[in-house]
Amino acid sequence: MNMDVNPNPTNPAGLSTPDIPAEFIPRHIALVMDGNGRWAQERGMPRTEGHKRGEAVLMDAVDACLAMGVPYLSAYAFSTENWRRTASEVRFLMGFNRDVLRRQRDMLHEKGVRVVWLGRRPRLWRSVIRELEAAEELTRNNTTMTLGLCINYGGRAELVDAARKIARDAADGKIVPERISEELLAQYLYDPGMPDVDLFLRPSGEKRTSNFLIWQSAYAEMVYQDKLFPDFTHEDMFAAIEEYARRDRRFGGTK
Ligand code: IPE
Ligand code: IPE
Ligand code: MG
Repeated sequence: MNMDVNPNPTNPAGLSTPDIPAEFIPRHIALVMDGNGRWAQERGMPRTEGHKRGEAVLMDAVDACLAMGVPYLSAYAFSTENWRRTASEVRFLMGFNRDVLRRQRDMLHEKGVRVVWLGRRPRLWRSVIRELEAAEELTRNNTTMTLGLCINYGGRAELVDAARKIARDAADGKIVPERISEELLAQYLYDPGMPDVDLFLRPSGEKRTSNFLIWQSAYAEMVYQDKLFPDFTHEDMFAAIEEYARRDRRFGGTK
């Protein structure tokens, strides 16, 4: 067993980390930030108060990934299905995502985090797109870690968008249908450089993917936690990584 310490010792928050060999650190964690509404309602507060709490919680999750040397974290912030919510909640979430980006991008940049947006353009507020693009531009050369912000993201929508681009390139004679492979399809996803998801993490007690990174998570280890997202801490992230490290991954083969 390779007992090297974490490949990336950057730990801006000075968190005390569990000792996990580098080979058992996930390369990509998909985080479903769920349970905000229930957290607030349990306290007799409007659902939006739960979303507000999520900002600091996400930054704590980023610090945890930095401390553990996890190179990719994708955070599900608004799905293509979340438009079904009330107009006032949708409006809040749009404005909130815009403001979080504006508030946090300098801090993320200082920590060496590269921000990438995964999602669909149509319907998404222009002000949110503007902030996403500003954060991407500011942080584009950072290499410590990538934070995928999934806003107006849906796994099926991503595959449909990829299919459209592939069909266009095929019609233009740039690709031959017989040559379409898994590798080629992956090149048409929102972030072609993104590695497969190793650890799919969902707090809130729900046990489903809700259309998050479905292609990338084909062989992910699923970890579900009962805590609601506003109560999630770096300790929970560490616990999830420890559980991941104990899993036996076979990818269809034998040992
Ligand atoms: C997750 O929390 C945030 C978003 C989906 C935007 P929810 O708002 O889904 O909270 P619950 O699941 O209703 O408690
Ligand atoms: C998934 O949570 C989407 C995000 C966290 C952004 P939801 O609360 O929307 O998912 P369901 O409705 O429980 O499947
Ligand atoms: Mg939910």
